[in-house]
Amino acid sequence: MSGGPAAAVGEIDDFHDLGDDVEAFRADVLRGLSQPQKQLPCKYFYDERGSRLFDRICELDAYYPTRTEMRILEDCCNEIAALTAGGASLVEFGSGASRKVRLLLDRLDRPNAYIPIDISREHLLAAARTLAADYPTLVVLPICADYTGSLALPDWAMSDARLGFFPGSTIGNFEPRAARAFLRGAAGILGDGASLVIGVDLKKDLRILHEAYNDPLGVTADFNLNLLRRINAELGGNVDIASFAHDARYNDDLGRIEMHLVSERAQTVDIAGQRFTFRAGETIHTENSYKYDLDQFRALANDAGWSHDRVWCDEDRLFSVHYLSTAT
Ligand SMILES: C[S@@+](CC[C@H](N)C(=O)[O-])C[C@H]1O[C@@H](n2cnc3c(N)ncnc32)[C@H](O)[C@@H]1O
Repeated sequence: MSGGPAAAVGEIDDFHDLGDDVEAFRADVLRGLSQPQKQLPCKYFYDERGSRLFDRICELDAYYPTRTEMRILEDCCNEIAALTAGGASLVEFGSGASRKVRLLLDRLDRPNAYIPIDISREHLLAAARTLAADYPTLVVLPICADYTGSLALPDWAMSDARLGFFPGSTIGNFEPRAARAFLRGAAGILGDGASLVIGVDLKKDLRILHEAYNDPLGVTADFNLNLLRRINAELGGNVDIASFAHDARYNDDLGRIEMHLVSERAQTVDIAGQRFTFRAGETIHTENSYKYDLDQFRALANDAGWSHDRVWCDEDRLFSVHYLSTAT
């Protein structure tokens, strides 16, 4: 074990802030709303409010992915621990509330450090502080950054064994080419000899998918509409949020759930000095959530340079957890 920065017991050990700024948000929004199919990058769902709404989604009865992945992890984390060298640094991509990682931290052999990477600054810091208090001997180094950008782990972490963790089927938010690029990038960040535990949602009955992404309590709708709130609050937009409706639909050809915001009437909106026109029924495409079958994901991981070592599923084959490794 090579240690890390020194901190008071139970506190985070350092904080690296490479988060997006408002200029990048403005540029992405103006570009996205100028496309023939208006679109916005889903990473902008996650300000503090958006992250809290996502945590509520995870607790909904209709939202099967979280509880199913937790059950799989509970069942397989001893095997994950056996596959992973002692004294590892655990690097989580898109760590959110840092709940699932506790299952791994509790079973791994003497984990040295936990490095959560997330774009949602306040939520990341709060989750990292809570975790540091609960695991007082662990080095906890939160990094606020876009995990698709260039990122380097500190030198001390590169000399430990490294285990990446990417739960929540967040990989499904990427189009296949971008998913491959993310997996290559993660291999580059984690370095030779690293492993990656990744949760991947599976193709399934469309009724289950429809319920999960159009929950009856409207929490997912609120989460989707939060993007418009952010635009109004941070970019001085005048979007009438009540005139947009949430819609999630399965695109069978592409094997993905698509989330849209539907303009319920013809209207114009002003954002950061630019005017955008909407027809009644026109949509902003806000998120994709690709569903895989096991062979498809294995092929994707191999294409991205990972060797596919193990996979675990629940008995209903709703969700899967994969253990990948890079060459040494
Ligand atoms: C679907 S949630 C999953 C959260 C958690 N890992 C789980 O399994 O419940 C995606 C998480 O990734 C973060 N995120 C989304 N896009 C990101 C990006 N481009 N860079 C860094 N973090 C991102 C969000 O803030 C959020 O915490």
